Amino acid sequence: MSNLILTDEQDGVLTITLNRFDKKNALNDLMYQQLCQHFNYARVSEHIRCILIQGDKNCFCAGNDLEDFIQADEDSDLAAFKFIKILGDFNKPLIAAVAGAAVGIGTTMLLHCDMVFAATNSKFKLPFTQLGLCPEAASSYLLPLRIGANRAFELMILGDTFSAEQAFTYGLVNKVCAPEDLLANAQQCATRIAKLPKDAVMTGRRLIRQASQTQITQVMNDEADEFFRLVNGKECKDIIAQFFKR
Ligand code: COA
Repeated sequence: MSNLILTDEQDGVLTITLNRFDKKNALNDLMYQQLCQHFNYARVSEHIRCILIQGDKNCFCAGNDLEDFIQADEDSDLAAFKFIKILGDFNKPLIAAVAGAAVGIGTTMLLHCDMVFAATNSKFKLPFTQLGLCPEAASSYLLPLRIGANRAFELMILGDTFSAEQAFTYGLVNKVCAPEDLLANAQQCATRIAKLPKDAVMTGRRLIRQASQTQITQVMNDEADEFFRLVNGKECKDIIAQFFKR
């Protein structure tokens, strides 16, 4: 039995903990499959009012497992894209607690969260172009919408690392806190949301998001086609192979 994803259900909050710290919580196929199962369960559960996704006070998520990108071929069905779709269409509040590495999908998944807590040691990075890839998770739509096209270009095409303070200034993070306070702060917020009237919360959330919902689905599909083409190209495979030769 894999324990790469841990869950805990309390007071209406489903806490999902990424638990692959030896690989900086890089998400592999099995982890995506488990995430899909937990999100699907939370979606229909009468008891769950809110999901909190976290790593620990030192590491959130180093993005997709790069090994899976090397293995990918024309016939592959990347589990990441199934998770991304579920994420983009999720119906309940989603809170994230970020610390340390938040790379690739470790950052783009935050664009689908309702509240993001980031520790001062967070390091956000969107290295798609550097890897010979393109944006995913509707980030090519959501990031420019949130921070403007020029900044989005800077973060997604140049792929520079940015801090919790910068993410806060850009409006991508609600609260910056000390690493040792991160998980407690995020849990407190999730529990507070879970105590609010359920229908009103879900309705309000849906209304906040509905203007962009159709667009998100369309963009995700377009990105998936391009991502799949690029991940199967020689340039991308060569760049990623270098990562494991360091
Ligand atoms: N996929 C697979 N393995 C990964 C990984 C990833 N995305 N990120 C980290 N790892 C592994 C490393 O290979 C290393 O494994 P090893 O101990 O068996 O050699 C281990 O996790 C620790 O990583 P390391 O690079 O030594 O940690 P660090 O603290 O120096 O750097 C990162 C952390 C996140 C900055 C760095 O690991 C990194 O850049 N990872 C790749 C991120 C990425 O490009 N993700 C895909 C985005 S689309």
